[in-house]
Amino acid sequence: MATRKAAAKKSDRVGWGIIGCGVIGPYHATSIKETRTAKLVACCDVIPERAQKLAADFGPGVKAYTRLDELLADPDVVAVSVCTPSGMHSEHVIAAAQAGKHILCEKPLDIRLKAIDEAIAAARECNVKLAGVFQRRTYESTKKVREAVRTGKLGKLVLGDAYQKYFRSHEYYASGAWRATWELDGGGALMNQGVHGIDLLLHLMGPVKRLSAYARRLVRNIPVEDTAVAILEFENGAVGVIEGTTSVTPGYDCRIEISGDNGTIVLHGEKIERWDIPGEAEATEEAASQGAAADPRAISVTGHVHHIEDLCAAIKEDREPEIPGIEARRAVEVIKAIYLSSRNGGCSVELPLSYEDDGIGI
Ligand SMILES: NC(=O)c1ccc[n+]([C@@H]2O[C@H](COP(=O)([O-])OP(=O)(O)OC[C@H]3O[C@@H](n4cnc5c(N)ncnc54)[C@H](O)[C@@H]3O)[C@@H](O)[C@H]2O)c1
Repeated sequence: MATRKAAAKKSDRVGWGIIGCGVIGPYHATSIKETRTAKLVACCDVIPERAQKLAADFGPGVKAYTRLDELLADPDVVAVSVCTPSGMHSEHVIAAAQAGKHILCEKPLDIRLKAIDEAIAAARECNVKLAGVFQRRTYESTKKVREAVRTGKLGKLVLGDAYQKYFRSHEYYASGAWRATWELDGGGALMNQGVHGIDLLLHLMGPVKRLSAYARRLVRNIPVEDTAVAILEFENGAVGVIEGTTSVTPGYDCRIEISGDNGTIVLHGEKIERWDIPGEAEATEEAASQGAAADPRAISVTGHVHHIEDLCAAIKEDREPEIPGIEARRAVEVIKAIYLSSRNGGCSVELPLSYEDDGIGI
């Protein structure tokens, strides 16, 4: 890492600001440190101690702000990570774009499709880059599976499934007033945790055409769903299921199963668990750990490092980042369709959704 880092002079690095210094903000700070192209110059949180702690932990020279407009007025800040509660993302993306900052926004890009579209439009109009976080897309295993699907190794796609059996405690839900609220989390087991696996499923299988779903509160005393199931039909004709929960013990990392008439691949967390394609003996591995399945802080920084370096490269080369806003929107639309179907007794919902369908509740 030391040699890699030496390749770029400190002054060449993209000055970075972090907006929101709660759980994920410090992961962005650690990730920035791991890159060879970015340097943390400022952070901001409405809770002063959080901003001050992050600045002190990653200083010297990192400025701590308590007001977003102060961070956005700082000329040393060229790009920002938006790490605030999900329902504030669009507002903060738009403010950053209008201040001329490039943006890496945590998942989900926002919890309302209209807000997402406004954020995408603001970035376009202000001529800044907007990238979404979906770190699972960056795994080598994901790239290998996507290439196998893309090149037709599985034959005609038949089934695409995402199983996300997670555990989140009462303490987790009590750890922030915004968690598990419709207004700021936008949902529960799917909009917060399951959005990762749903994005991965769409990344591998392509868009969903229609779905039917049930979303329920089965265990936790929260207003949003803690469990949901959906039956999907993809645009390519394949079918599949999504299962998502935060209420089972012990909690397992996400499993994605893709099956065609010529083979099946199973991704479990970062690992390829099965690669059953005639004539191919791809090494499969047991999943080493269950990732953040039961512990929201058990996140590796590798994916975030990749996202930050990609945004730096996108700025330098004036190209789109690997996950532009429009890509980060896709999983949110499927989740909104699941909630809409559930609200209507499990009826079939066609995509794309209109803004009128973008309501809340299950
Ligand atoms: N990619 C991942 O694996 C991953 C993991 C965890 C969280 N997240 C996402 O990151 C976001 C934040 O989640 P978290 O768990 O860190 O939440 P958190 O509550 O721990 O942190 C959010 C922080 O934002 C601050 N904040 C609120 N309004 C602000 C404002 N106007 N200006 C500046 N700061 C403000 C809060 O004070 C808080 O410290 C969510 O959207 C979540 O979905 C992503």
